[in-house]
Amino acid sequence: MFETLEELPQDAILGIMTLFREDQDPGKIDLSVGVYQDEDGNTPILDSVRRAEQQIIASQNTKSYVAIAGNAGFNAQMETLMFGADHPALRDGRVSTVQSPGGSGGLCVAAHLFLRAKPGARVWISDPSWPNHSPLLKLAGLTLEQYPYYDREKHRIDFDAMLATFEKLDSGEIVLLHGCCHNPSGADLSRDQWDALAELFERRGLIPFIDFAYLGLGDGIDEDAYGVRLMAERLPEVVVVSSCSKNFGLYRERVGSVSIVSTGKTAAKIALSNASNVARGIYSMPPDHGAAIVAEILSNEKLRTLWHGEVGAMRNRLNLLRQLLVDKLAERHQERDFSFIARERGMFSFLGISREQIVRLREEFHVYMVESSRINIAGVNQSNADTIADAIVAVL
Ligand SMILES: Cc1ncc(COP(=O)(O)O)c(C=O)c1O
Repeated sequence: MFETLEELPQDAILGIMTLFREDQDPGKIDLSVGVYQDEDGNTPILDSVRRAEQQIIASQNTKSYVAIAGNAGFNAQMETLMFGADHPALRDGRVSTVQSPGGSGGLCVAAHLFLRAKPGARVWISDPSWPNHSPLLKLAGLTLEQYPYYDREKHRIDFDAMLATFEKLDSGEIVLLHGCCHNPSGADLSRDQWDALAELFERRGLIPFIDFAYLGLGDGIDEDAYGVRLMAERLPEVVVVSSCSKNFGLYRERVGSVSIVSTGKTAAKIALSNASNVARGIYSMPPDHGAAIVAEILSNEKLRTLWHGEVGAMRNRLNLLRQLLVDKLAERHQERDFSFIARERGMFSFLGISREQIVRLREEFHVYMVESSRINIAGVNQSNADTIADAIVAVL
């Protein structure tokens, strides 16, 4: 049977990772990876996570199944974290949440839920978007369309083009937005832009599908949640998918959630039963360990405070590195303005250089990035920033 299949080309990012691994230069620099790194290039286990994990190991006395919707404490804590404790949608019982295997699992559950509610559903994603949005959502059966988002020349959101596209959509169309720290561009919607989108979505009956994979890594928990909270307050139906991979550093534990904001309590109950049924049909139950860690952290004041400090430190470091890189580039080269990097947020930005320049960076200067010129800001550090800036300026 499987002779009908053909070997597929290697994933582009994996290809760069292989080249990086094979490079024998001791000063090689990797800006292609999709995980947070500290000053020493490590992706550490957070202290809050270690402590929560120890408490769980000490107290857990069974590995029996938890539930199809996962850890109820985790789901409740995630709702409070994302929406804020006194959000009207929570107060009115309009939100139902299921734990999912990472943000990716959450996107998949949401996709099946859309298709169940609306066979043939299509989703509008930003141009560009996280590279896995398209294969993941298409594999689930959704049809995808793109809306203009990032103006690669001006290094900012093309908000007029975005609005113009949304103005033409029919009521009930689903639009995927990034809650904060847009991946891959780092260009985030301002509060005014979220306000304008909420007004437009409300007027035209569009459904926001918000991918919230970097909460806390942009400007702060409440600041990053502005759009999600606004949409959930203003609109009758919203779907929010979270990931705890980056902000809790729980990548391999596969922790995320899907929250469905419905028109009322009864609709929320129906949404929960369907999301649970979808989850049952795909993977039966999500893995427990990572969600148990998050639930422990968020429900324990000491651990929660510790985590707030740790996510704050990651965020501040990313934002300082953004400025550091801009300054280093400006010191060396005034003709081209890279200041947009400091205005962007999260782990990624596009440098905006050509394929040839990217290859030269790799082959002549041992600086690695993916073909789109997306760089992981966390790959920059105090000791390699000069080398990176020298190399970039040399290929401009
Ligand atoms: C925008 C976006 N959504 C979802 C995900 C999926 O994250 P997870 O590893 O939790 O599946 C990522 C991961 O990089 C992401 O960048």
